[in-house]
Amino acid sequence: QFDLKTNEKGNLSIGGADAVELTEKYDTPLYVIDEMKIRDNYNRLYNAFSSQYEDFKIFYACKANTNLAVMRILEQEGSCIDAVSPGEVYTSLLAGFEPERILYTGNNVTDEELKFAVSSGVTINLDSISALKRLSKLTDPEKVRISFRVNPMVGAGHHEHCITGGELSKFGVMEKEAADVYSLAQDLGFTPVGIHTHIGSGILDPEPFMLAVETLMDITGKVHEEAGVKFEFIDFGGGLGIPYEPHENKLDIDHFSKEIVGLFKNKLNEYNLGKPTMYLEPGRYIVGNASTLLTKVNTIKQSYRKFAGVDAGFNTLLRPSMYGSYHHIVVANKPEAEATQNIDIAGNVCESGDLFARDRPLPEVEEGDILAILNAGAYGFSMSSQYNSRPKTAEVLVTDGESEVIRERETFADVLTKQNVPVRLLK
Ligand code: LLP
Repeated sequence: QFDLKTNEKGNLSIGGADAVELTEKYDTPLYVIDEMKIRDNYNRLYNAFSSQYEDFKIFYACKANTNLAVMRILEQEGSCIDAVSPGEVYTSLLAGFEPERILYTGNNVTDEELKFAVSSGVTINLDSISALKRLSKLTDPEKVRISFRVNPMVGAGHHEHCITGGELSKFGVMEKEAADVYSLAQDLGFTPVGIHTHIGSGILDPEPFMLAVETLMDITGKVHEEAGVKFEFIDFGGGLGIPYEPHENKLDIDHFSKEIVGLFKNKLNEYNLGKPTMYLEPGRYIVGNASTLLTKVNTIKQSYRKFAGVDAGFNTLLRPSMYGSYHHIVVANKPEAEATQNIDIAGNVCESGDLFARDRPLPEVEEGDILAILNAGAYGFSMSSQYNSRPKTAEVLVTDGESEVIRERETFADVLTKQNVPVRLLK
């Protein structure tokens, strides 16, 4: 299921590199990113959709992983970028994406953030009427490309925190006010160019996604009819899931793309919408399975339960603690060994919730073993923190067996940076 490879030494191989040797060279914890997997994921998705509908673009949701090397790989592949903050816009520009290839979808944006987006020349995807009105005062509406994020009242996701459509969601303008919002934008002097939705993250069931596509197309048709907007693009957001548990199935991307494009084309005809570009904004699908977190077992403890304590924690990979997410774990120095026990894998953060797995079937684990926490590429490093004054970990990129550091391990000095102790407290 997870395409695990074992090398002649009996160790886990990642992109042709020996996982155990990588930890000897770069220390632990360590994120190891497999370049080919990113390229394969991108191309599989791109080819599936563009073969059905030529005007198709992928906007990589860089919040999943903003490492510049990862961004460069996707820039080379021809991706565009979904950025959610000025920092992500800045990073994308630095990574070589022209402003035309960046869509800025902020949430609760400040005037300063809007000004930054305008001066960067990116397309601004507005999330509220407030932002629209404020933007109209900050710039010449004729000079900025805008679209709106609409809440289609359909939501889905792997956890309630990751559902972004529906009546509890803080995102987007309401579907029932969409036509009025576009009219208002035109009255203010804008020429809106697109429409957007994103219903949630970690979706493996095509049904809700299809429903969102259908709903957004109906909304788009209505906006076109009532407000006379001509759409350059229709953006269905991201959310495409990947299997984390061994029993989960991959999205059948050929089937998925056929269903979506079929529906999309029917609705284009139904509403006379012409030939707008279809956008998708995947993050997880592109980088999720491309990175492995390697961490060393330093303590085996038989307490009221059996624990293997490792040198990473929820400061390194938050998803298990934050969402109860499952990440498959193998012992990198014996990836094919059979499970003989159920054991808890605990991190080194001083909180009880800092667990990578509870009661996980694993082979015998010893101190010094290297655990590989799989599918850690999306929202892994990007959600990591310095909690407990732990320097953030390093990232390496592997390609054809060669490894390069693409983010250095932080030091204590990095944790202390930007602090200021008032002189009076130094006495
Ligand atoms: N577009 C927008 C507007 C988004 O808000 C997101 C994700 C995406 C695209 C990409 O979603 P993806 O294809 O990666 O599912 N931290 C959570 C995920 C939060 C997703 C936030 N928005 C996790 O670790 O599961």
